[in-house]
Order: sequence, then C-alpha cells, then structure tokens
Amino acid sequence: MSTAPGSKRHTDLPPTPDFDVYEITARIESGEPVQGGRVLRLTWSDGHVSNLHAVWLRDNASDAANLNLETREARTDVTAIASDIQITSAEVDDAGALVVTWSVGGPASRFHPGWLRHHDYTNDHRAADPAEIAPILWDAVTMREPPTFDGSDILENDETLGDWLRAIVVYGIARLTGVTNEDGMVARVTERIGPVRTTNFGRVFNVMVKSGPGSNAYTALPLTPHTDLPTREYQPGLQFLHCLEASSEDGHARYVDGYKLCERIRVHDPLAFESLTTTLWPTSNRAVDTDYRWRAPVIHLDRNGRVDEVRATPFLRAPLDVPFDQVEEAYRALRLFFEMATDVKQQMKFAYRQGDLVGMDNRRVLHGRDAYDPSRENRWLQGCYSEREELLSRLRILERNKLHRQSQSKSE
Ligand SMILES: [Fe+2]
Repeated sequence: MSTAPGSKRHTDLPPTPDFDVYEITARIESGEPVQGGRVLRLTWSDGHVSNLHAVWLRDNASDAANLNLETREARTDVTAIASDIQITSAEVDDAGALVVTWSVGGPASRFHPGWLRHHDYTNDHRAADPAEIAPILWDAVTMREPPTFDGSDILENDETLGDWLRAIVVYGIARLTGVTNEDGMVARVTERIGPVRTTNFGRVFNVMVKSGPGSNAYTALPLTPHTDLPTREYQPGLQFLHCLEASSEDGHARYVDGYKLCERIRVHDPLAFESLTTTLWPTSNRAVDTDYRWRAPVIHLDRNGRVDEVRATPFLRAPLDVPFDQVEEAYRALRLFFEMATDVKQQMKFAYRQGDLVGMDNRRVLHGRDAYDPSRENRWLQGCYSEREELLSRLRILERNKLHRQSQSKSE
C-alpha cells in the first residue's frame, strides 16, 4: 500500500453521504488497486475482503466537490466522473479512514470505514434493512390473534412504536390496545409513522352506520374480507382502524393473510394462480362525485415471483372486459380465491374492544367483518390510510436514533 500524495493525517473520521450512524465492526488493514486501478481490493481486520470499483467509490465520495455537506445530496451527476477513472493509491489514515487518490487528479477522497463495510456489495452482500425483513405467513390455525402491544403511551414510546411496526412488516397486521379513546386519535398515531394519506373518504373516515351511504362499510352489512381502494393506481399500503365504540356481540373482525392464501392457490391450482396473476380485473368506486377506476390482477408478483400485492374487493368490482375465451377461467379463479378467503381456517376472527387500534398492510392482509345489529348497540371504528414506505422510513429513523444514542453514550 503506497502513501497517498497530499493526504493529511486526520484524527476524525470523514462525513458519510447520508445522516446515518455507522458502527465500525472491523478496521481496514490494507487497500490495493487491482485490474489497472479500476478496482480497489480492501482487506479487513476480520478477514473480509471487499472489491470495490473506482467508479463506485468516486460516485459515493463524500468530499465537498462531490457532495453538498449540508444536504448530503450529490452536487454532480455521473457524467462528472471520468469514464476511465482509476485509483492510483490507497492508504488508511490515523483516524482509520480509507484515503484514495485518483488518476484524474484533484484532491484525495476519504471514506468512513463503517460506511464502506455497510455498503460493501461484494459477495452479493445486502445491508440489513426493514424492507428486507421476511414476512411470516399465517392462517387461523397458526395465528389466532394479531401480535398485540400496549398502546397507552404510543404517542411518546418509540420502543413500542418500533415493535408494533416491525410486527406489521412481518405479519401484515398488529394491534395496539388501550389507545386513548379520542376522536382523531387514529391520525395522531399514524402521524407517529408518517403523513396520513387523504382520500375521497377524507383524512380519517368513520366506519359507522350514521356515516351515511358512500360505502358498504358504512352499513351494518357483513363485509367479505377485502383490500381497500383497489380503484387507485397505488392501493394504500397501510390502513389503521381505531375502535372508539365496540359492539361486544357481533360485528366481529375477520382478517385473512392474502400472501398465505395466494401461496395455497399457487400450490393447489396453478391454472387459477396464473389467471389471478394475469387477468386485469377492473374496479370502480360508485360515488356521486368521484369516479376512480383501475385495472389490475388480483395477485401481483415481484421480480422474484413472490406475491407482493393483493387487490381483492368484491363490492368494487366493475364489469369484466377481457377476451371472450378468458372469461370463464377468470371467474373460476376468482371464485376459488374468495372461497378460500371466506374459509374459517383462513380467517382470524376477534372482537374489537374499545381502545384497540389495528394496523394492517392493506396490500397484503384482507379485512372484513360480521354483520351487526345497529339498533342494539353502537359500533364506531375510525380509520385512515398511509403507505408502506412511511413505515419503513420510520423504522430506519428509529434504528438511526438508537445507534446515535449508543454512540453518544460510548463517547461520554
Ligand atoms: Fe374496508
């Protein structure tokens, strides 16, 4: 390893191109330019080896020429990087930072070792992230009640917030109990995560008979398990329901893990699965002053073939208009889907109690309810929507804050 010309001895680590906190779990022992300087081979104190491209390092350098240190956003775009850029030398300075000099001249760049290790893409490494948390699929046999947390101090308690949100990522549903019985509380809790998504039903909506017509939800009718707002290009990722007045006898909640349901269909009836993943089912809302429409398959797969979204709402289905020879198979597949969705072995059933606040992934978990008798007792759920990305952002910030506190207490 040669000495980088012009490099200075530092005692502080350089900034990173973000606001995250990076633990240093290993030191960089050596850095060797290889492949004519197009790649830098780093050897770490724990034996790990990273091979990082010169163009990638230059793109992510956090020096002032490359990065606005105030916003931590890039000042330049990729065309500012010489297409033949090479690394001429690399060393580790007194602070433990990697110092790289470039074939194209200019000042050397310093890299934070914790940041480099976290973002090292060698050996298909992917850094830990809430978006990578694997879901655990369930049915009524394997999970009888949602994961439940004491929500009495949810507006202040970050630990409960993190536990509740992680459970929503894993199971698609999690419940808080003892949430303050206050009109609008569901939005205040949701804003602990991120912005509420306002829709034509308002910022919050009241699931109660006296809300008047506008949706079957605002009646005492039973509701087949469904997802909300499939009529939108982007179906809401999260839905929250806060029970302000409970009906003890009836109107029970019914929840179904759509991912589990889809996997059952994939195994038991591949032709139905094929239809559900390809047929563009139209949906439309029926309202006096709005007219939302969207076409999408009931099951959406990600690029690895995993189910990542379910759109299934019987009461918003619009007339099917696919080619003639696909109609009967499309109906056969949809019938199978809802036979399974209404099978008691799939449905988690429980009674809402006053103070319950259920958070769900509306693109994964279907929700429904039993009919109830509005003349006997009131039933009032208040709900709102938000997005998966807000939840993931909040989990990352909670983790960042925790690391920040840990690093501060270490330095004290
Ligand atoms: Fe609904």
